[in-house]
Amino acid sequence: MKPKGLICAGGEATRLGELTRVANKHLLPVGRWPMIYYPLQLLQQAGIGDVLLVTGKGHAGQMIDLLGDGLLAPRGGGDPILELDLTYKVQTEPGGIAQVVGMAQDFAAGAPLVVVLGDNIFEYAQSEPIADWGDDARGAQIFVKNVPDPENFGVVVYDEEGHVTDIVEKAGVVDMRYPEPPSSHAVVGLYCYPPDVFDVIGTLEPSSRGELEITDVNRYYALEGRLRAHEVKGWWEDAGKHWQHLAEIGRVIEATGVNK
Ligand code: DAU
Repeated sequence: MKPKGLICAGGEATRLGELTRVANKHLLPVGRWPMIYYPLQLLQQAGIGDVLLVTGKGHAGQMIDLLGDGLLAPRGGGDPILELDLTYKVQTEPGGIAQVVGMAQDFAAGAPLVVVLGDNIFEYAQSEPIADWGDDARGAQIFVKNVPDPENFGVVVYDEEGHVTDIVEKAGVVDMRYPEPPSSHAVVGLYCYPPDVFDVIGTLEPSSRGELEITDVNRYYALEGRLRAHEVKGWWEDAGKHWQHLAEIGRVIEATGVNK
């Protein structure tokens, strides 16, 4: 079955300070577009047209105003920016990324699922590894990137043969097994799951921060030997980290292009 897409754009953005008192993080400008256009365009570039977008309660109306049914023509004319078939759902409390994935069960209807976090932006749409995985989609696939600040992310631990043996969410803050991050390979916000992901989510318990952690889903597949970790091609940014980042990422996008 052809994979479907999911964008996680719920949650509470506290790290962007004054900018998100009223406005939704995913609608803030990054370069010439609102942030949410980028993960949607990634799915489109990767050949995934059927997409569920999960938003928080307060901003669902604005999101629908902006994106409509998923066919988005640019102001002033020209080729559509997006040509997706969009469905919406509302997450009423920020119960974690894995909770959002769980909300996609009926939408997925037995198809594999490609999940993108609404604040993650990529130079390349990673189309090839997504297509290779989608050919049989028996296991899960994550994407990793070496970062200077691994304490802010989920990170992977490898054995000597390069297999993922563990995944650790924000060491010392969420995952108390490790005081420091055991590696600098961050797991980025792009995940590919087989149809049994909903069974896995059904077994999860909330973490120390009270959320259903996507890292626990990924660890399950790693321990089962059904997880592939792919190095991200090109640059990758988590645009939700700091307000100064928004303008910087906009400049990078203008210089290099995005979702190539
Ligand atoms: O950016 C990559 C990182 O994203 C990963 O390395 C981590 O393993 C993963 O947990 C996540 O960490 P963050 O702390 O950056 O997640 P954040 O709470 O910022 O949420 C990321 C996106 O997911 C955000 O755009 C909104 C969405 N989200 C989040 C939560 C907690 C939801 O839709 N619902 C939620 O309940």
